Amino acid sequence: METNCPTIFTIFGATGDLTQRKLLPALYFLESQRELDGQFRILCVARRQVSEEGFRKEAAASVRKYSRIKVNDELLEKFLGRISYAPFHFSKEEDYALLKERLECMAGTHCPSIDRIFYLAIPSELIGTVVQGMEKASLTKQAQGGGYTRVVFEKPFGSDLRSAKRLNRTILSVFDESQIYRIDHYLAKELVQNLLVMRFGNSIFEPLWNKRYIDHIQITVAETIGVENRAHYYDTAGSLRDVVQNHIMQLLCLVAMASPKTLNAEDIRNEKVKILTRIARSKDMLSYSVKGQYASGEIEGKELPAYRQEKDIFRSSLTDTYFAMKLFIRNRLWRGVPFYVRTGKRLKDRATEIVLVYKQPESRLFKERGLELESNLLFIRVQPDEGITLQFNAKVPGNKVLIEPVDMDFCHECKFGPNSPESYERLLHDVMHGDQTLFTRWDEVEHSWKIIDRIAKPWKNRQPHLYEAGTWGPKEADELIGQDGRKWINPSKPGYVALLGR
Ligand SMILES: NC(=O)c1ccc[n+]([C@@H]2O[C@H](COP(=O)([O-])OP(=O)(O)OC[C@H]3O[C@@H](n4cnc5c(N)ncnc54)[C@H](OP(=O)(O)O)[C@@H]3O)[C@@H](O)[C@H]2O)c1
Repeated sequence: METNCPTIFTIFGATGDLTQRKLLPALYFLESQRELDGQFRILCVARRQVSEEGFRKEAAASVRKYSRIKVNDELLEKFLGRISYAPFHFSKEEDYALLKERLECMAGTHCPSIDRIFYLAIPSELIGTVVQGMEKASLTKQAQGGGYTRVVFEKPFGSDLRSAKRLNRTILSVFDESQIYRIDHYLAKELVQNLLVMRFGNSIFEPLWNKRYIDHIQITVAETIGVENRAHYYDTAGSLRDVVQNHIMQLLCLVAMASPKTLNAEDIRNEKVKILTRIARSKDMLSYSVKGQYASGEIEGKELPAYRQEKDIFRSSLTDTYFAMKLFIRNRLWRGVPFYVRTGKRLKDRATEIVLVYKQPESRLFKERGLELESNLLFIRVQPDEGITLQFNAKVPGNKVLIEPVDMDFCHECKFGPNSPESYERLLHDVMHGDQTLFTRWDEVEHSWKIIDRIAKPWKNRQPHLYEAGTWGPKEADELIGQDGRKWINPSKPGYVALLGR
């Protein structure tokens, strides 16, 4: 391909929340890093009738509001100069033909084959319509003689196995898997990526990362926010589909998978799929799961309504805003080790955390003296306050032998500074470079849905257990883990937060 030919990044759904809050600020960041070459263009389309100038003003305001880095006026002008806007209706065939013309015009006559990225920042139910419209206008094929065509799909990918399969068939009838980028933005979080390095790049961790040493593992994805302005989507999805099917399953895979042969996308994905296949075969998932929904309560002194009192939510809604489950991975590494996972809205704190709880030491040395030892804990904090803490037992100074757990911390921000890439910055960069490692392959999505369907279907008409907003969830979730003689380890502020001045 000629070097002066543009890359055109087309955003469907450009007036929406995701584009304004995440995509445009992330693209601006890439501009600041000189990752967008001189010919890079951003074509924004959505239903709203707004002039190009009007759209650029909105884009500027969004970048100013949501940018993670300080906005430089000159750079912002340069960035806005790359943006065009066209009103577009997804169900109008003629709009796709116009879009094609516009792309050709932007490419110029000297560039018959350009690099094209299409980002579908649109509700999942519209994906089929858009993909078919693109096909009819011949927008889906890789260009002859060089330029690539890539397409990015947001989560959720379907709402159950059947709809996901249908969606995937539609997509695969026009795109090749190598063109497809399915987003799970959790995979681009620094601490999630760090998991591979931590596990397989350190001889002190990997040998102890298995059933011989680990008693159990907990994964918590907790939010303090409620349903906000996503009522329409959330009331049909719930926590199981919104968080467990994608983020929690991906975290679980990265914690539990065996070492991939290489760091290539396919080898990593192959190992993740092995884990998902094992879980999908479990028979006991349903009896080990808890469905919850928030009742009214209080967070940081603010009175909050119950889920069923939220705007646009059915007063008799049975949707889960909380989910907890115990599951097993029956393979050589993990047979017999329970994984307890939970997620919820309106919980006491916002945190995503993985905790490895080690078995009690076998030595009787201290027990004979009546000294109790705490289990060693390894905390991996994905957000906020990213970092890793190893909690182990140490002697308290003095003549007597007294033992207390102490922390050894790795504070990500203290070491590397506050400017680690935000998920979308990393993901957009990777799409531009054709790296699919941080995107989910179809079989990962398929097996995750198999797991979720096994729970969601029988759950559909079941009453959720209510929990007070601002707590850690329903008491039934405490009982789930409590009957095994264990308890949830609730996220707390690590010691290094003080160093960050928060
Ligand atoms: N927002 C987030 O933080 C977030 C996070 C993770 C995943 N996602 C996913 O990202 C996708 C987009 O989410 P969002 O929050 O940005 O949704 P949104 O705010 O509802 O935006 C939807 C966009 O689609 C456009 N649109 C809808 N129907 C259309 C039609 N018939 N023809 C042309 N344009 C149409 C809208 O255009 P008009 O405004 O002009 O009508 C708007 O630009 C969803 O799949 C969502 O699940 C979002």
